[in-house]
Amino acid sequence: MADVLKIGLIGCGTVGQGVVELLRIEGDEIARKVGLRLDLARVADRDRGQPAKVGVPADRITTNVRDILEDPSISVVIELVGGTTIAKEFVLQALRAGKHVVTANKALLAKHGREIYRTAREAGRCVAFEASCGGGIPLILPIREGLVANRISAIYGILNGTCNYILSEMDEKGKSYAQALSEAQEAGYAELDPTLDVNGTDTAHKLAVLASLAFMADVEFDRIHIEGIESLEAQDLAAGRELGYVCKLLGIAGRTEAGLSLRVHPAFVSRSHPLAGSSGSFNAISVYGNWVGHTLYYGRGAGQKPTASAVVADLVGIAVGNTARAFERFRTLNDVNAEPVYVPIDDLHLRYYVRLMVADRAGVMAQITRCFGDLGIGLRAITQHEPTDDAPDGTVPVVVLTHKTREGEMKRALAAIAALDAVRAAPVTIRLVEEHEEYSS
Ligand code: HSE
Repeated sequence: MADVLKIGLIGCGTVGQGVVELLRIEGDEIARKVGLRLDLARVADRDRGQPAKVGVPADRITTNVRDILEDPSISVVIELVGGTTIAKEFVLQALRAGKHVVTANKALLAKHGREIYRTAREAGRCVAFEASCGGGIPLILPIREGLVANRISAIYGILNGTCNYILSEMDEKGKSYAQALSEAQEAGYAELDPTLDVNGTDTAHKLAVLASLAFMADVEFDRIHIEGIESLEAQDLAAGRELGYVCKLLGIAGRTEAGLSLRVHPAFVSRSHPLAGSSGSFNAISVYGNWVGHTLYYGRGAGQKPTASAVVADLVGIAVGNTARAFERFRTLNDVNAEPVYVPIDDLHLRYYVRLMVADRAGVMAQITRCFGDLGIGLRAITQHEPTDDAPDGTVPVVVLTHKTREGEMKRALAAIAALDAVRAAPVTIRLVEEHEEYSS
């Protein structure tokens, strides 16, 4: 074991600055724990002011990434640039230069994992990515190693702190979507481009990384069904609350004999669901194994300090030799696995919340229930509400809860309903997600 691990950091934004501060404040304690020192030898950023802000000495700051990539004394590169273009080049170059890589870049791994892992293997180096999913929550290590004895049947995750913060603030404090998003940005939870958070892409990136690992599959990012939270309306969150549900943006990966289903969408979960209690920037991820049953991982999924915590855990894993050995031995990454068979979302059997805006006149309910009935869709509840203040005259909301039905049939029923003369706006649907059966395969 080396006494000092020399590290180069590329990208000193919110998380990078957190890493700098963590190593400064906790460096001695970590050295005491693991018997070696993590030395941040160089920090590269386009703006020298960023690392200077957190006290990196001027002679350790550079604007030229080559100063890290070509320094033979540096054995680990932390990539915190983000994005999938220049970050990819830095990661590949670092690996080819014989350096291990630590990254929080879920987009990069979701889209180019196969190439990156293969390059690492060819170079005899490793890629560590604990910070890519679930912020500070140890998730990669437990799935890869702690649950190694299990065949995993499903992952259900609240994987985006920004969305969870927005939904909780809207639900619990009645804040507007825009206000909650701006607060999440200020708190440093959101991506540089917050569209990636709210449209579900960030959750899908993380789901791709986790599903590849859990199911030993070369998951194709584009095969994930993705819906975000941008078009959710306060009135649906309120209607859900009345029915005992809370709305969460979930990333769901399930394995059955038919194949893998991968989806990201807002979901109503009952207040007693294991994921319901996670609010604000917290993430919560349920993983189901055939021996262990249900396991739940909970913690801060975004933000400077939690993410820095995960990055430093990876540095230590590399420093003590565990990570490189595991990277080499475990056959769990994209580059050593095949593309799975996917189950299309239309083939899943789910329950739905549906809100329709309809003309308030006799016979309309019968028309609606007939559209569902024609496709064999059973209804669990149907309620007509008082008109909302902003609804056009004579239009009322009707809320329907269905029994389990195939999504393809549901889409056909909704298309028939939307075409009814009495239906005045596109139907709003939110899927209801129940607790996964603990031992389902
Ligand atoms: N923007 C991400 C989130 C950061 O809000 O969860 C952590 O990946």
